[in-house]
Amino acid sequence: MQHTANPRSLNSPQKPSETDANNAHPSDAHTSDAHPSLSASPPEPKQPEPKQSVLKHPGIKSYVRRTGRLTHAQREALDALWPRYGIDAAHVAQGLSDWWQSPVPLTVEIGFGDGDCLSTLAARHPERHYVGFEVHDPGVGHALLMAKRLGLNNLRLLHADAQAILTECFPAQCLDEVLIYFPDPWHKKRHHKRRLVQPEFVRLLAKLCKPNAYVRLATDWAPYAEWMLSVFSGALAFDNIASPGPFTPRPPERPQTKFERRGLRLGQSAWDLCFRRNQLPWDADA
Ligand SMILES: C[S@@+](CC[C@H](N)C(=O)[O-])C[C@H]1O[C@@H](n2cnc3c(N)ncnc32)[C@H](O)[C@@H]1O
Repeated sequence: MQHTANPRSLNSPQKPSETDANNAHPSDAHTSDAHPSLSASPPEPKQPEPKQSVLKHPGIKSYVRRTGRLTHAQREALDALWPRYGIDAAHVAQGLSDWWQSPVPLTVEIGFGDGDCLSTLAARHPERHYVGFEVHDPGVGHALLMAKRLGLNNLRLLHADAQAILTECFPAQCLDEVLIYFPDPWHKKRHHKRRLVQPEFVRLLAKLCKPNAYVRLATDWAPYAEWMLSVFSGALAFDNIASPGPFTPRPPERPQTKFERRGLRLGQSAWDLCFRRNQLPWDADA
């Protein structure tokens, strides 16, 4: 079957401002899709009210569209393997409700890139469930190929904007672990609002995390590391577990990604952070 442009996440038209590759990570600027539920059109009269987004700027995207080239194998994987590993944006609850109700711990990775880290962890921990979000077509194709190669049964992929789907579809207290590794740093001050890690987003994570759930982050951009630290330090629902801190040593169990290896070759360091959800209400600092 011929793969057409991402029918899974129902593309919205591209805005010129989203293509500004100058604003993205130096090594990565990505093609992506907006979740249809982010559109400004009002709900049909008889449909239930959509859940109100807890994000202050729900229309601002933390990624850039990029016309990445799909290899033949990735294109085939997007068609052939999607039914096995993928969950369409329109059917998230249907696809994940069994896992949400299951006692098996659930890890979510936001922006899995090529899926190296996610699929390696899923292979290493068959006793856990893994859900990954990515908007970049070749990355999703690559992750599908890895999932098949490793014979994974505990991995599901969403080819969609994590902020939209987590806000609108995920129930409270369903996550045991959140991974955010090397998110786009958005260097320029006027683009800091596009950084994924924002107080509103951390509040959303607090809502979705079970007590004692971990949020693990890494970045190779020192100012973003400080930013992450500052945002999480302002979130009463999370405790920094770094000791003496504020950053944790690189966890040996965190698989290295192509992206991280490239940074290391260029002499860049990485900062790791880890926060644990405490017992306070998720909106304690609202
Ligand atoms: C700099 S790359 C790092 C990828 C990967 N974590 C790694 O370490 O190789 C950041 C990734 O996050 C993805 N991303 C950013 N915002 C996202 C969002 N809201 N939902 C899903 N993916 C997102 C981008 O498409 C991009 O692939």
